[in-house]
Amino acid sequence: MGQTVLLVGLQWGDEGKGKVIDALSERFDLVVRFQGGANAGHTIHIGQEEFILRLVPSGILHPGTLCVIANGVVVDPVALTAEMAGLRQRGVDVGENLVISDRAHVVLPHHKALDEAREAARGKDRLGTTRNGIGPCYADKASRCGIRFAEMIEPDVFHERLVAVLEINNRILTQVYGAEPVDVDAAYDEYCRYAEELKPHVQDTVMLMRQALRDGKNILLEGAQGSMLDLNFGTYPYVTSSEVVGGATVGTGIPPTRIDRVIGVVKSYCSRVGTGPFPTEQDNEIGKAIHRTIEMHGGRERGSVTGRPRRCGWLDGVVLRHTAELNGVTGLAVGMLDVLSAFETLKVCTAYKLDGRGLHSFPASLTAVERVEPVYEELEGWCCDVSDVTRWEELPPQARRYLAAVEELAGAPVEFVSVGPERKQVIEREPDG
Ligand code: IMP
Repeated sequence: MGQTVLLVGLQWGDEGKGKVIDALSERFDLVVRFQGGANAGHTIHIGQEEFILRLVPSGILHPGTLCVIANGVVVDPVALTAEMAGLRQRGVDVGENLVISDRAHVVLPHHKALDEAREAARGKDRLGTTRNGIGPCYADKASRCGIRFAEMIEPDVFHERLVAVLEINNRILTQVYGAEPVDVDAAYDEYCRYAEELKPHVQDTVMLMRQALRDGKNILLEGAQGSMLDLNFGTYPYVTSSEVVGGATVGTGIPPTRIDRVIGVVKSYCSRVGTGPFPTEQDNEIGKAIHRTIEMHGGRERGSVTGRPRRCGWLDGVVLRHTAELNGVTGLAVGMLDVLSAFETLKVCTAYKLDGRGLHSFPASLTAVERVEPVYEELEGWCCDVSDVTRWEELPPQARRYLAAVEELAGAPVEFVSVGPERKQVIEREPDG
């Protein structure tokens, strides 16, 4: 009997999911992306090589793994074909091992133009999007005027839909935002070329999933972004436009009863790119020390897609409880433990105070979130290099105490700990560890 495992970020993205997925991939027959789009950037280090995957599932670096871009993803053919070419150039096989859902929506030029124009129009209130057209594409999907791969690979249908959708959106671009219109003929020709290139990969992935479940295959569902960027449960409107929480079912066609385990990925501290509330942010020497430590290790605390510096802060237990419960996590993967080696004392936020009263849940109101004061518990740091540790028992006792605090807040056991950027720097805890 195969297992279906969901892996999901529990903070604001960039928790190190790509690395955990890569470490686990060889145990799975299928690795499936189910939401988001080219706004994601999953970084994987193998030896001296760094791979940043935006749309292609992280399983692609394991020969024999079938990688699926399922129906819930919004796919930018420009980014996808460039990523495929880049992988091939580096000797990675990208052929029948990559499948794209015929129900996945296509990110079109007007989506990217609208993302740009709306952000510019918002001025200082901008959301800080990655400008990849994610929001406008999901908006077209919900408005029932999107174009899916099923339509794009049929030239006549594609032409009819594209003309209709651009007629309205060009009016919005020019008349509302004063931006340039999209040239219909040029867009049609360009996207027909992408359709031709991608057509061999397009399939009914709902049937593919169903068959994989019947055949007892092991399936890894690869979440992108983080649960605090979720459209329903995140810091709305400073969120992405997809369902990070719950998207694994609607984004693949796999019923909820067929998901066996949910692994929540949590960074040992917190970070956020883009705008929006972040109660435990350390816009001070501590935040700078986190950046410095990462750079000392040859890493970087910058968005993989946008290159923007990430804001850093202490671990937020209110966030962790909120997202661990929403996702029903059965286990945790804790990322970047090595970064905290630089601190003699570590702080963990265990609750918020709002107007002098304790608050244990994450409020919906952003004005409330902006006013909360984090209540911190202090823990002793371990102040030694843990990047060579390979076994749970070899972790310093202070590090294990820190991980026990994470477990208590999330209400789930730590199963994996990452202690460095390399593929091999993942400690897997034995069941009785
Ligand atoms: P969008 O998804 O491009 O619309 O951006 C909306 C918000 O989500 C912005 O704050 C982005 O910085 C953030 N975001 C989107 N994708 C990621 C990601 O993969 N990691 C971290 N932040 C992300």
